[in-house]
Amino acid sequence: MRLDHQSMENLWMPFTSNRDFKADPRIVARGDGVYLYTPEGRPIIDASSGLFCCAAGHSRPEIADAVHRQLATLAYTAPFQLGHELSFELAHRIAELTPEGMNRVFFVNSGSEAVDTAIKVALAYHYARGEGQRQRLVSRERAYHGVNLGGTSLSGMVKNRQAFGLGLAGIAHIRHTWLPENRYQRNQPADGAELADDLEKIVHNYGADSIAACFVEPIAGSTGCLVPPVGYLERLREICDQHGILLVFDEVICGFGRTGEPFASQTFGVTPDIMTLAKALTNAAQPMGAIVVGQHVYDSIVNAAPDRVIELFHGYTYSGHPAACAAGLATLDIYRDEKLFERGRSLSDYFQESIFALKEFDIVTDIRGYGMITGIDLAPSGGPGNVGITVQKKLFHAGLHVKATGDALIVAPPLISTEANIDEISEKLRKVLQS
Ligand SMILES: Cc1ncc(COP(=O)(O)O)c(C=O)c1O
Repeated sequence: MRLDHQSMENLWMPFTSNRDFKADPRIVARGDGVYLYTPEGRPIIDASSGLFCCAAGHSRPEIADAVHRQLATLAYTAPFQLGHELSFELAHRIAELTPEGMNRVFFVNSGSEAVDTAIKVALAYHYARGEGQRQRLVSRERAYHGVNLGGTSLSGMVKNRQAFGLGLAGIAHIRHTWLPENRYQRNQPADGAELADDLEKIVHNYGADSIAACFVEPIAGSTGCLVPPVGYLERLREICDQHGILLVFDEVICGFGRTGEPFASQTFGVTPDIMTLAKALTNAAQPMGAIVVGQHVYDSIVNAAPDRVIELFHGYTYSGHPAACAAGLATLDIYRDEKLFERGRSLSDYFQESIFALKEFDIVTDIRGYGMITGIDLAPSGGPGNVGITVQKKLFHAGLHVKATGDALIVAPPLISTEANIDEISEKLRKVLQS
């Protein structure tokens, strides 16, 4: 099909300025390694791993073969009261990577479903323990927890909530962790651990026994890479423990090597009660997400139910879909065999240095970064997000794909990248940022 303005009309594109896009479309037809290719064959280096999900690079044949084999063998089976081997195997392989004690895995189909599942599990946990009055949730300014109604209610980004009603009742937001004095600090900023005490304030305002869980992204990714200040996550953990509040880490972006360890909870040495995963779990070759919970969470819910009774009335038609499990297993094999988490860790200094060097351009107002993810703030002009989209488009035409949120660029290349790939990314950024 030849794409022109007319033939593009039927598709309502997500998180896209549809009218603007269709007037100036940016189409890719193929992916290979760290590159996407336009229909004419022009290479576009992918500086954001798609949407932070293709950690092992694009269109890996090992994953495609595994998915094809699985679809030809067992394309689908109901996941309720029936099982298939790969889902048990993938849950086991994930639990080998997660922090000790985080060992029960529930499959979903996206990060948004993972977040809404985590909300329900947190509520069900307290209910099972006779504390069903704990229904308040705590989130954070500038948070992104997907787009389902639970995640939208947790959202700390105004545009993601503004048009969508009141959302869940009883959600309180603590402050985000961006501080002007921490501008241009690489890795964890020195100042700001005390921002975690906002949770203590919420406890004082509402009473600990009304609060179910506190949701945070260890590194707030979509808002432009806000790295937690030294001691911040530890302090949140302490306050949660003191008051019986579950700590939920949304690791949808951070997970699978982005921070140098399998998960950010290991990188920062803080274990939550529930983790949400998606994106790089299947290298984005199949839609899939998961939550991983501590054994105490699983046991509390499961052991509270009578024998032969469903313990959690929750699940999706496609929970643990066979093709997604096949993709997940093939992806974890690649991560292991190619030592991609270690590879990302050893490339991260080179990567960070080349991105932080962009500080010299007037348009850049802050840079943050940890491991293989960085955020570059651009000076706004002509309304919020105008500079971000303009720069993003120029970069595409210069041969680089990057995710922009508002006026921030989020650079997080695949973990298979080489130093030469990083050089190409920074050269293209330089060319456009100085223009
Ligand atoms: C931290 C976080 N949680 C949840 C989501 C939602 O994931 P999905 O788009 O797969 O629903 C995202 C997506 O970027 C995310 O960054």
